[in-house]
Amino acid sequence: SLFPVILAGGKGERFWPLSRQDRPKQFLSLDGSSRSLLQATADRLLPIAGNWESLWIITSSQIAEGVRQQLPELPSQNLLIESQGRDTAAAVAWASLEINKRYGEDAIIGFFPSDHWIANQKAFIHTLSAATQLAASTAAIVTLGIKPTFPSTGYGYIEQGEKIGSFNELPAYHVNRFTEKPNRETAETFLSTGRFCWNSGMFVFRAGVVLKELHTHAPEIIEPLEQQGPDIYPQLPKKSIDYALMEKTTLAHVLPVEFGWDDLGDWNAIERLLKKEETPNVELATHVGLDTQGAIVYATNPEDVIVTIGLEDVVIVRDRNVTLIVNKDRTQEIKQVLKTLQNDP
Ligand code: GDD
Ligand code: MG
Repeated sequence: SLFPVILAGGKGERFWPLSRQDRPKQFLSLDGSSRSLLQATADRLLPIAGNWESLWIITSSQIAEGVRQQLPELPSQNLLIESQGRDTAAAVAWASLEINKRYGEDAIIGFFPSDHWIANQKAFIHTLSAATQLAASTAAIVTLGIKPTFPSTGYGYIEQGEKIGSFNELPAYHVNRFTEKPNRETAETFLSTGRFCWNSGMFVFRAGVVLKELHTHAPEIIEPLEQQGPDIYPQLPKKSIDYALMEKTTLAHVLPVEFGWDDLGDWNAIERLLKKEETPNVELATHVGLDTQGAIVYATNPEDVIVTIGLEDVVIVRDRNVTLIVNKDRTQEIKQVLKTLQNDP
């Protein structure tokens, strides 16, 4: 069996101004369904956990109350609350320590981001049972590799090595190298070799294996947590698990998978989700567009009307007191702009 842990402490800044401090991305439903991204993630993982007692969530103190409201069934001892966000390496370390304490070092843990879209639930469950078997039989840090479709600079890249066997009919490979968020040129080179997959951001391993690897590669995170507990959080370095562990470990394995996956990372993801071939624009607002191609238009207030003339490949978002207009290929930079705004308006 597998203990799933949902990583739900991100700010979702690239979805600003829809995602705000008091209403981060994981609380939103971006595809028009009635369940938020967080709720959809829990719905997807519950059959894998078997029951609510085996499902864990780690999040920041600012949004913990929102998590409780959205998932009232979650036992309170399975909600780990970080006093300050320290990125995913600290989150993985703390949650792994807690699960190790409760269930021992052979417990199999899976980490899952809360901002993913997955098309085929059956294939997803099948894959996770393969990942669980692999983690149970080998000292492995198991990753799920997604077939890349464009040279994205927002993902980690996994170079597939030697085949080590099959699990649940899925071939498993050793990982030769893991590169987090390469630049465009490197991403293009990776793609052209045909040997790389994208890192889905989901990881499966035994508690004892990940703790040992963290001791080797990220002692600055695991040691203070182990010795002093989560009170030490504000002093921990801010690092993602991809840089802190995945780029360094030699135990990484990959199951190349196809269950229909997307990371709802920025506004362009909405387009990938909703765009029908024939439509020139993705409209989540009353939009009158003259000579407008490839626009993503969103308004929270259904009474707002957005009019555009002669525009191409822009994102326009109106929410409460904010209007954002950004070129589609620069949505990653919203993060930087937010740093210059004193307070999130
Ligand atoms: N608890 C907690 N604390 N969760 C966090 C924190 C934190 O400080 N920071 C981020 N998270 C959560 C986010 O809410 C998200 O669900 C998940 O961890 C991943 O963080 P992101 O910030 O969304 O990472 P990313 O998308 O840039 O990159 C990761 O995911 C990609 C695939 O979506 C990496 O693993 C990449 O290698 C990968 O390709
Ligand atoms: Mg993400």
